[in-house]
Amino acid sequence: MKAFILALDQGTTSSRAILFDQSGQIRAVAQKEFTQHYPQPGWVEHDPMEIWSTQAGVAAEVLSRAGISSQQIAAIGITNQRETTIVWERNTGKPIYPAIVWQDRRTADWCDQLRVEAGELIRQKTGLLPDAYFSATKIRWILDHVPDARKKAENGELAFGTIDSWLIWNFTRGRVHATDVTNASRTMLFNIHTGQWDPELLALLDIPQSLLPEVVASSGVVAETSGDVLTYPIPIAGIAGDQQAALFGQMCTEPGMVKNTYGTGCFVVMQTGSKPVQSQNRLLTTIAWEINGQLNYALEGSIFIGGAVVQWLRDGLQMIRSSSEIETLARQVPDTGGVYVVPAFTGLGAPHWNQQARGMIVGLTRGSTHAHIARAALESIAYQTYDVVRAMEADTGLSISEMRVDGGAAVNDLLMQFQANILNTQVVRPAIVETTAQGAAYLAGLAVGFWKDIETIRAQWKESKRFIPQMSEPVRTTNLQGWARALKAVRCWAE
Ligand code: G3P
Repeated sequence: MKAFILALDQGTTSSRAILFDQSGQIRAVAQKEFTQHYPQPGWVEHDPMEIWSTQAGVAAEVLSRAGISSQQIAAIGITNQRETTIVWERNTGKPIYPAIVWQDRRTADWCDQLRVEAGELIRQKTGLLPDAYFSATKIRWILDHVPDARKKAENGELAFGTIDSWLIWNFTRGRVHATDVTNASRTMLFNIHTGQWDPELLALLDIPQSLLPEVVASSGVVAETSGDVLTYPIPIAGIAGDQQAALFGQMCTEPGMVKNTYGTGCFVVMQTGSKPVQSQNRLLTTIAWEINGQLNYALEGSIFIGGAVVQWLRDGLQMIRSSSEIETLARQVPDTGGVYVVPAFTGLGAPHWNQQARGMIVGLTRGSTHAHIARAALESIAYQTYDVVRAMEADTGLSISEMRVDGGAAVNDLLMQFQANILNTQVVRPAIVETTAQGAAYLAGLAVGFWKDIETIRAQWKESKRFIPQMSEPVRTTNLQGWARALKAVRCWAE
């Protein structure tokens, strides 16, 4: 009997495979971290072969952990770090350059120029602001810098894909070159209104159409895995970028519902229904999903450094040995003592969009300790979220009364309480915080009839803890004023 859905979650720092049963519960998890490459300041690369081998490895491992065979899997749902760009040879399947990761800033100067020359055109068509974050300028960089790449691309010998495409290509042994609408909407080449690659943008950025994958719905059977990868062919029936998958996993299916995922970055996303909302406050308009031929849109505030600031305290400053230690360290002090950390390590994303900004710690005194810095680092995640949520409210005219949270750092009670306090909004943590993988599983399961409809899935979403705002208004105002001053200092430094 086909009793499980296999979700593959290919994230920025690890490849994961999670097995869900019909009640939406997790049956087994396998995870493998992979290498981050920083060849130059501001550059971030991954090895595409390591991405593939770790992802295929954890897929096999999770089945053996659960003691089941691939014949018991009804479908696979794929979700992935978005924007990260791979170009490979169609005939050998070999990448011609490492994956250029979404955090990579090598094309920042060109993007600053693009903002001036074509910012409005790009925004209208794609819902995005020209930024090195998105795939388009990364593709162009590869074509311009790898010997013979442009010639090969023009001859139709190369394929481009975000991570979803790369995995599908490999799971099908090169039979299928596809991506879904959510991933396509992050390339800066996709028209979110027509649901197609945009010829004018391709010409503007000088990217041959022959590189591009076919665009498919987020929920629907795209292909079957090749028999030699997971022993028995399994339909790949769901694909979504990780933030859109989390939005679906959180069952934010009504316009106005908001989730925030605290992963490497932090991504606040509001479902806006069948019509795209054009932001007046420098948020992104993006595709939430396509199900049953219906496109749904979302507003997104992308924060580049969220949980990664905790990793930096652990690996960079070696202030803690494991990420979970941060809560204990931060709780040693009642507040930050006026210290603010602005973790603009790779520039600032929404709503500031400052590509040249870099990290800063301000407000240090002779009495500042590790605990103050740890607390300020944690709080920076909440302040960045505050900036995005207020922009979202201004764009939609809605007051956000509740935000659903997930991702690694969502288990941190100190951070979640501070988030509720600083937003003056209730923060709700669901019983399962693996919402990204769960969303991919739901998209796949819907397509093959494993779950009958969205109503059935909605009944599975359960709240586990609600954080109610507790901070007095004067304290909140003072804290926010301090954050605004810290941001100002970062902006001055970047000029
Ligand atoms: O847009 C980048 C995003 O998809 C990365 O997500 O979870 O790997 O931080 P995550």
